[in-house]
Amino acid sequence: MYWLFGLAVVVAAFLAVRWQGQTHPHPMPFWLEGFFLDNPLRRQVFGPRFVLDLAAVASGEQVAEVGCGIGYVSEALAERVGAGGSVQALDQSPEAVRAATRRLSACAAACTVVEGDAAALPWPSASLDAVVMVAMLGELPADRRLAALSEVRRVLRPDGRLTVVEYWPDPHFLRPERLAGYLSAAGFRMEAAGKRPGQHGIRSRPAAEGKAGEEPDAQA
Ligand SMILES: C[S@@+](CC[C@H](N)C(=O)[O-])C[C@H]1O[C@@H](n2cnc3c(N)ncnc32)[C@H](O)[C@@H]1O
Repeated sequence: MYWLFGLAVVVAAFLAVRWQGQTHPHPMPFWLEGFFLDNPLRRQVFGPRFVLDLAAVASGEQVAEVGCGIGYVSEALAERVGAGGSVQALDQSPEAVRAATRRLSACAAACTVVEGDAAALPWPSASLDAVVMVAMLGELPADRRLAALSEVRRVLRPDGRLTVVEYWPDPHFLRPERLAGYLSAAGFRMEAAGKRPGQHGIRSRPAAEGKAGEEPDAQA
């Protein structure tokens, strides 16, 4: 009987955290990042390969990760683009920026990590081949997601790619149809969608005629 009670407590806690994440989104605190963003489960199930393949990242490209956390995905991006490419990583948390800087200090590509906000990217317009956002879009308040996507659109080359990946256990998880709605409202056209157990993602490109529209849904 005790195990049933324990299970009910775990399920209730999960639902409460999920409700909080959906109704009052906020950035993951840094003290949780070391545990949640780099652990054996992530390496086995949520490894960066899915992101890199969906994003079709190639050697020599100039790429960026918005909301890089401790640099787990950025490190893999750097390996993929190699010595001829570059990786720009950005996060709003100074501690995460320090951790990612340490992690990328020996990367073969030209890697730069900066502190900043997703809605005001520090990079020149039309300067990047690809941008990835992994488990981060849902952390923004619903009314700021479009601003962040519009900034990504600005820094991408006209034929550049934005890839957004979401993980289901994340309390800020965005379902595929909600994510597609944000991308379309921000002037992106979907190019490919990928799915694995517990994760999904969409690769998109700036639509030729696209321009930022209205928030698809004010609710988180
Ligand atoms: C769940 S973590 C994911 C980190 C990384 N993408 C990964 O997959 O390992 C989300 C990150 O997005 C960052 N973030 C949230 N809101 C942000 C914003 N407005 N601008 C920049 N970074 C932000 C958080 O600080 C956090 O490090």
